[in-house]
Amino acid sequence: MRLLLLTSYAIAVATQIFENEDFNVTEALISQGVDVSALPQLNAITERSSDLGCSIACSSLNILYGRDTVDFRNESAYATFTSKFWSGAATIEGGITMSFEKLKGIELSADKKTVSVQPGNDWGDVLTALSDTGVTVVAGRIGDIGVGGLTLGGGISFVSNEYGLACDNVASFDVVTASGRVVKTTPPQFSGLYWGLRGGGNNLGIVTSFELETKPLKDDLLFGGTRTFTEDVFGDVVKAWIDLTLNSPTDPKAGSWIAWMERGVKLAATELWYGAPLANGSESVGLAPFYNISAVSDSTRTRGHAAYVTDNEASNTYGLREIFYDVTVKASYEVASRSVDIFFESIGNLSSVEGVFPVLIWQHITEGSLKGSVRNGGNAMGFDTTKGPIHIIQLACQWNNAADDDKVYKVMSDIMKQIKKESIELGVANDWVYMNYASQFQDVIASYGDNSKAKLKEVASRYDPRAVFQKLQPGYFKLDRAPVPGTSYFSH
Ligand SMILES: Cc1cc2nc3c(=O)[nH]c(=O)nc-3n(C[C@H](O)[C@H](O)[C@H](O)COP(=O)(O)OP(=O)(O)OC[C@H]3O[C@@H](n4cnc5c(N)ncnc54)[C@H](O)[C@@H]3O)c2cc1C
Ligand SMILES: *[C@@H]1O[C@H](CO)[C@@H](O)[C@H](O)[C@H]1NC(C)=O
Ligand SMILES: *[C@@H]1O[C@H](CO)[C@@H](O)[C@H](O)[C@H]1NC(C)=O
Ligand SMILES: *[C@@H]1O[C@H](CO)[C@@H](O)[C@H](O)[C@H]1NC(C)=O
Ligand SMILES: *[C@@H]1O[C@H](CO)[C@@H](O)[C@H](O)[C@H]1NC(C)=O
Ligand SMILES: *[C@@H]1O[C@H](CO)[C@@H](O)[C@H](O)[C@H]1NC(C)=O
Repeated sequence: MRLLLLTSYAIAVATQIFENEDFNVTEALISQGVDVSALPQLNAITERSSDLGCSIACSSLNILYGRDTVDFRNESAYATFTSKFWSGAATIEGGITMSFEKLKGIELSADKKTVSVQPGNDWGDVLTALSDTGVTVVAGRIGDIGVGGLTLGGGISFVSNEYGLACDNVASFDVVTASGRVVKTTPPQFSGLYWGLRGGGNNLGIVTSFELETKPLKDDLLFGGTRTFTEDVFGDVVKAWIDLTLNSPTDPKAGSWIAWMERGVKLAATELWYGAPLANGSESVGLAPFYNISAVSDSTRTRGHAAYVTDNEASNTYGLREIFYDVTVKASYEVASRSVDIFFESIGNLSSVEGVFPVLIWQHITEGSLKGSVRNGGNAMGFDTTKGPIHIIQLACQWNNAADDDKVYKVMSDIMKQIKKESIELGVANDWVYMNYASQFQDVIASYGDNSKAKLKEVASRYDPRAVFQKLQPGYFKLDRAPVPGTSYFSH
């Protein structure tokens, strides 16, 4: 009898509905200790998504938390805040944007195995805080990039070839779900949610703390910098980079991206790094071939992980128009080399665009990164780990005027379409689109594959049954669409 009761209890828990059908926002606020009688307008709403919702919510926040926690549109703090973003994905017209700027906690555990980081931090903050502790984390590679978006979309780091992506090295996420319920997800606890946050972006909840696994790094020191080559040696550079990508397991501390660009002359700016100090990059088997090619400049050197990402901030310009775009292929010499030709052949189409600066960027998801992706139940991105390393072919373009937006989008989209076509013809096509470098025209979740997408939707229907994060937070890569759907621009 007792056993029977336990069994039926277990079944009830397993099928438990996370948010009840009759969820009542007023009652939820009362249960959070909010004095709803102090919010007279609240009585007017019966549904969460009513038109009145936004202004009522603003004045309610004002009443509940005080004047200095809400910046209204007519105030200078509002303008300062909304002008400091890279893309419009995290803000909204006529709605509320939640700022994480006061969620600045960074707490290293007593045994130094994990560090709990709140989303108001950028990677410069995190690595600087860890710089004298003997440990580091799988972090972004430019200091002023945020912890939240980078981790929820994947997260390529200077140590990813050893440990995997940022999202694959998170011990737990503290999440506020759609109904306001706060949960800690770990591999066994709310496991679907834990899985989905590893690549699912902003579709499942608001993460208020990331418990990141730490990695040993003596004196915070690693090696890295930029070694730049001219067109006469591009063939050698392509070979060295694809060799490094294919042979990464023999030297997993070594990694690289390449930025191909034209600044008067055609250049390949190769970022070369190694997850430990080196006197000379040629000491690394993986990097050595790059040091055998004569370069026009070289800033590679040993420095702190924190210093490296902070130094890299100088390469970012704020205040311009910008698009990222990406497609992925199975790493191969032919398609890599073709992508460079297609890029340089096409950017002439942009010559009339004021301030235009297009860059083709190569990145890799090596065997080591793929190995990290299957830890703790795997991630949501649908990698096929049996098919070898993935080459991300990314475009980044900056320009001055909104009047040129469509022209730039068209040229970028055409380059992506041509590279996709080549990859199919060469038999090296790959479905996955990397969210963190994707354009607003790309249906990223569809690129994860049918199984992964179906599972993400199943997780969302459990933790967010009324699709709050699809409807009330319409920006970024949604479960069923690109941020800007229905265009003829390249998707995936
Ligand atoms: C100069 C530059 C360098 C970059 N370098 C790297 C790199 O080294 N490696 C790499 O992988 N990517 C890199 N990226 C890409 C980067 O990962 C994405 O741009 C990412 O979206 C940035 O996250 P963010 O939190 O700064 O941005 P945001 O625009 O703030 O966030 C992006 C999206 O995630 C959501 N989000 C953010 N935080 C949370 C949270 N706590 N809970 C729920 N949703 C949240 C936001 O609502 C938004 O929709 C780089 C980008 C730039 C511009
Ligand atoms: C929600 O709860 C409040 C407080 O208990 C109640 O007054 C209100 O009628 C409920 N709303 C709905 C739609 O059930
Ligand atoms: C801005 O608007 C809010 C809300 O309407 C109001 O309370 C506040 O006084 C205004 N601030 C300024 C500086 O006008
Ligand atoms: C590094 O080694 C290469 C040859 O392997 C050499 O050309 C270069 O001068 C060395 N750089 C430094 C800074 O010692
Ligand atoms: C560097 O170039 C020399 C001469 O071509 C060659 O013998 C050597 O193997 C190369 N080393 C590397 C690491 O590529
Ligand atoms: C414009 O782009 C197309 C395809 O991307 C290419 O074939 C053509 O050569 C380009 N024209 C110029 C002027 O760059």
